[in-house]
Amino acid sequence: IKKHRIQGPLTGKKVVVSAGPTREFLDPIRFISNPSSGKMGLAMAEAARVLGANVTLLHGPISIEIPDRIPSKTFVSADELFNLIKEDANADVIIMAAAVSDFKPSTFQQQKVKKEQADTELKLTRNPDILEWLGNRKNEGQVLIGFAMETENLRQNAQKKLQKKNLDWICANDLAGESSAFGSDENRILLLSEETEESYSGTKQEIARKILHRIFSAD
Ligand code: CTP
Ligand code: CA
Repeated sequence: IKKHRIQGPLTGKKVVVSAGPTREFLDPIRFISNPSSGKMGLAMAEAARVLGANVTLLHGPISIEIPDRIPSKTFVSADELFNLIKEDANADVIIMAAAVSDFKPSTFQQQKVKKEQADTELKLTRNPDILEWLGNRKNEGQVLIGFAMETENLRQNAQKKLQKKNLDWICANDLAGESSAFGSDENRILLLSEETEESYSGTKQEIARKILHRIFSAD
């Protein structure tokens, strides 16, 4: 079968996009997570595909449907996402839109914690910073794109993450004044590189197209 190939600035490029939340289980039925819907990550994957990329979407537990045209793999915890990323760490472009939990329970209780133990403390351990790991081993020519979720000092905090994680671009979610972009169909993003800055607002699909157009087909 001959596959239809889209001609565009990402034709022949392997693009890996992560999307959605992680779940960090503390016992068989309870977990720590966040309200990430996966919509922004899916929009980035769709936009990359339209530019010709060979896309793989890695996604956590989400309720939105992933179309068949987007090849995907699933993860639950940050450690599982890290393992999937390691398999594809040499991709031409990696877009980390997943809302990775910074912490996981230090121990996993094999049996359901009963309420009699309710005042036991929940001890947490740091998860690996996957994007920072990617930044430290970045290949020549590889493009690393991160996201940043901030509630204050958007530009400054995002700029710090760009540098610390050795990213080429960071898409900072502008949540100022709003409760959250989580789950919404619209978003406002400040796109930063070391020297440039752009702001985009609109639907997540529109923003994803603008971001990738700016990065890969700016005249
Ligand atoms: N990220 C990651 N691994 C983690 C945490 C975050 O790869 N353990 C990635 C996210 O996917 C995102 C970027 O790092 O692309 C920034 O995530 P964010 O939560 O905004 O920043 P943190 O570095 O985790 O800092 P903090 O949450 O303290 O603001
Ligand atoms: Ca974080």
